[in-house]
Amino acid sequence: MSTFTEPAPTATALLLLGKGSDAASEKGVDCPGELPAPSDPDLVARARAAKEALGDRLFILGHHYQRDEVIQFADVTGDSFKLAQQAAARPEAEFIVFCGVHFMAESADILTTDDQKVILPDMAAGCSMADMAAAVQVEDCWEALTEAGVADVTVPMTYMNSTAAIKAFVGKRDGVVCTSSNAERALNWAFERGEKVLFLPDQHLGRNTAVRDLGLSLEDCVVYNPHKPNGGLTKQQLRDAKMILWRGHCSVHGRFTLDSVRDVRERVPGVNVLVHPECSHDVVSAADYVGSTEYIIKALDAAEPGSAWAIGTELNLVRRLANRHADKQVTFLDKTVCYCSTMNRIDLPHLVWALEELVAGRVPNQITVDAETARHASFALDRMLALP
Ligand code: 13P
Ligand code: SF4
Repeated sequence: MSTFTEPAPTATALLLLGKGSDAASEKGVDCPGELPAPSDPDLVARARAAKEALGDRLFILGHHYQRDEVIQFADVTGDSFKLAQQAAARPEAEFIVFCGVHFMAESADILTTDDQKVILPDMAAGCSMADMAAAVQVEDCWEALTEAGVADVTVPMTYMNSTAAIKAFVGKRDGVVCTSSNAERALNWAFERGEKVLFLPDQHLGRNTAVRDLGLSLEDCVVYNPHKPNGGLTKQQLRDAKMILWRGHCSVHGRFTLDSVRDVRERVPGVNVLVHPECSHDVVSAADYVGSTEYIIKALDAAEPGSAWAIGTELNLVRRLANRHADKQVTFLDKTVCYCSTMNRIDLPHLVWALEELVAGRVPNQITVDAETARHASFALDRMLALP
């Protein structure tokens, strides 16, 4: 079968991966102590030795978008749902090192016991989508819903990709968290309890789930823009809508367009187009299959040898799948490089640094959510974990 063709590099993507860039700016923030040099030939051996020294006290979680150099050290890899489940299922591990992004580590802290410590190897590993919904903006939105007389019939629901404060907002108002692998079930749950849903912060996952999975129409959805008074919506629009979508998105999945889908169908006859539901509605509508990162992996595992796949999600995962499925033709849906720059902040030097700090008896980059926020957020997270 043909080998994977690397998409064309862009200057920014390479900079974010630390190639040909200013080494000092690549260190991220808040990394006290000595960060090993990326060129250190002993990095793999050092990571192995630190992991062995920590033994059962350590549990490393790795999201599928992590670099290969990091994912090789994960005890469990998964999508955000599986990683949340796994974090909650390891009460014996003293240290949970989260190779993923900040909102995932926060959720892990909420779901673990008070004695367990969650560590994010680089504090600069955030998520631009999660940053698109600030608690104060969401409070304003709720106020607008109250003034329109619809807050009482609206169930708030947040995608996992949100801060702990947003999850707490949702928990306080009897709502639910969802991930890309259970959004349909969570949305059905919400519509059994209310007439409307306020979906935070990813408008695309909200719209795709409502229209594609629940059969609502695009006209049932409105977009609340936190940068405009009343979200840029009239009271009547809020009253008429079934889905009030927060104006947030993932810039990585925003790279895939309808043209990318058309183009790959022309280039690769018979190709199966498989995308993540954070892609826009027109991309998802034009795709053959849609699902979370775990779904994407399982779809490739189950695919016939010789079949062709164009995948619209982060490049580290797509390249790994291409390497693992040499008997299938795997193509990246975009023509240019498309990494999640913040996920890529966690590299081997940061992982080695974090593990060696733990061996030395220091706890670096601990992620802690305050007790009040955690109490409300865990209500909405536990509800998600208990969905049938
Ligand atoms: P998954 O839950 O599908 O792994 O997605 C997480 C994510 O951040 C995708 O952008
Ligand atoms: Fe956030 Fe998008 Fe990166 Fe996922 S891929 S962590 S949504 S920026």
